Amino acid sequence: MEEGIKKVPEVVQNSGHKIAVLGLGTGKLPPTPTDVLLPILMDAIEVGYHHFDTAAFYQSEQAIGRAVVQVLKRGLIKSRDEIFLTSKLWCTDASQSYSPCPQHHTPLGLDWSMRVCFLPWEFMELPPRLPNTGIDYYTIIEDLAAAKGKAVPQILLRSIIQQGPSAVPRSFNKERMKQNLEIFDWELGEDEMNKINQIPHRRLYAGDLFVYEVGP
Ligand SMILES: NC(=O)c1ccc[n+]([C@@H]2O[C@H](COP(=O)([O-])OP(=O)(O)OC[C@H]3O[C@@H](n4cnc5c(N)ncnc54)[C@H](OP(=O)(O)O)[C@@H]3O)[C@@H](O)[C@H]2O)c1
Repeated sequence: MEEGIKKVPEVVQNSGHKIAVLGLGTGKLPPTPTDVLLPILMDAIEVGYHHFDTAAFYQSEQAIGRAVVQVLKRGLIKSRDEIFLTSKLWCTDASQSYSPCPQHHTPLGLDWSMRVCFLPWEFMELPPRLPNTGIDYYTIIEDLAAAKGKAVPQILLRSIIQQGPSAVPRSFNKERMKQNLEIFDWELGEDEMNKINQIPHRRLYAGDLFVYEVGP
């Protein structure tokens, strides 16, 4: 982990697995080729990410598999268990009992920490989307950021983490990856959280798009 970055706090799941509350999202359209993504994900582990959100649909599974193998060889991590990997099946690739289809082999022999069927709403949290209501909500966040000497994305991420959920922001830029991790040695006060909570939050999708009468 790079100097100056505080270890990301972890929560323990019912399964006993520990999961860092801030992970790296890897979903991007069009998908990033594996050979381009591999060094990006190795950088991410080097700067302190130990939790990755992937999916068969993102085509990022092979890159994270290779990145983990490489950082293990280089001694950046001591054990596979230090990394929490989530992947997701596409709906049509799961049987009615939700067992994985054979075409989605675990990359390079690594086991998934969590494998779920797309879309896992209970595990996915998105930053608040700022609605167009005539009120300049962005100013609220921008003013808070200026007052605290933080960047706007840091304020948004900190506000999510402080409310309890995990977040998986995606950045493929090393400096912004680091910036997003630098939210664990300060906090938002009650007044600041109240201001943020005045902003209406909503989910990007309701999820009904992915529900079919005849499963899976
Ligand atoms: N959106 C969905 O529908 C969805 C669905 C299922 C799962 N997920 C998971 O959630 C993850 C995150 O969602 P997302 O990929 O839609 O996008 P996101 O994390 O909301 O936003 C990604 C964008 O934010 C920029 N960014 C990140 N950190 C920044 C910073 N500190 N300052 C300025 N810009 C910054 C990135 O640019 P740079 O790369 O240039 O820094 C990128 O353009 C996905 O990758 C995936 O793992 C998302």
